[in-house]
Amino acid sequence: MPKFVLWVPTMSEFINGFFELAPVSSSDVVYDLGSGDGRLLFAALEKGAGKCVGIDIDSKKVNEARELAREKGLDSKVTFIEGDFLDHDLSEATVILCYLFPEALRALRPKFELELKPGTRIVSEVFTVPKWKEAKVREVNRKNFNLYIMPPEKED
Ligand SMILES: C[S@@+](CC[C@H](N)C(=O)[O-])C[C@H]1O[C@@H](n2cnc3c(N)ncnc32)[C@H](O)[C@@H]1O
Repeated sequence: MPKFVLWVPTMSEFINGFFELAPVSSSDVVYDLGSGDGRLLFAALEKGAGKCVGIDIDSKKVNEARELAREKGLDSKVTFIEGDFLDHDLSEATVILCYLFPEALRALRPKFELELKPGTRIVSEVFTVPKWKEAKVREVNRKNFNLYIMPPEKED
């Protein structure tokens, strides 16, 4: 089972970078691939997302995120799945958040192309999806956030 990157959380001053590029509303289903302690999805719910799903391979982080969701009273709106994101159907997502190394984004690319609906937005912190052109790049506190909108433009 591949594991691509250890838990390095997105610091609070960067979290808005995701939602500046992909504003969310109650009609959005937001996925965080490699959701860690769930912080990006709790922020998505605060900003009005309708439903959130986090997938992480690390059982400790999944349990921690579930516990935090309970404490915050958000457990009816967010689900944390323990497992490899490559093994899960992503087709219901309207927004995908990721903070993953390029090799993970490379492995996810064919899955994104197969499963995601037109118009689905993907925001990747720092790293880019190989062979895709960004629809928009935004710098937040000297860190880049990259937006792709399905279907993305391809690099030659
Ligand atoms: C850099 S952390 C980002 C955590 C969170 N998204 C954030 O921004 O705070 C990456 C997370 O991806 C998870 N991960 C790595 N490979 C994975 C895989 N194949 N399937 C599911 N989760 C994975 C790690 O356990 C880790 O929690």
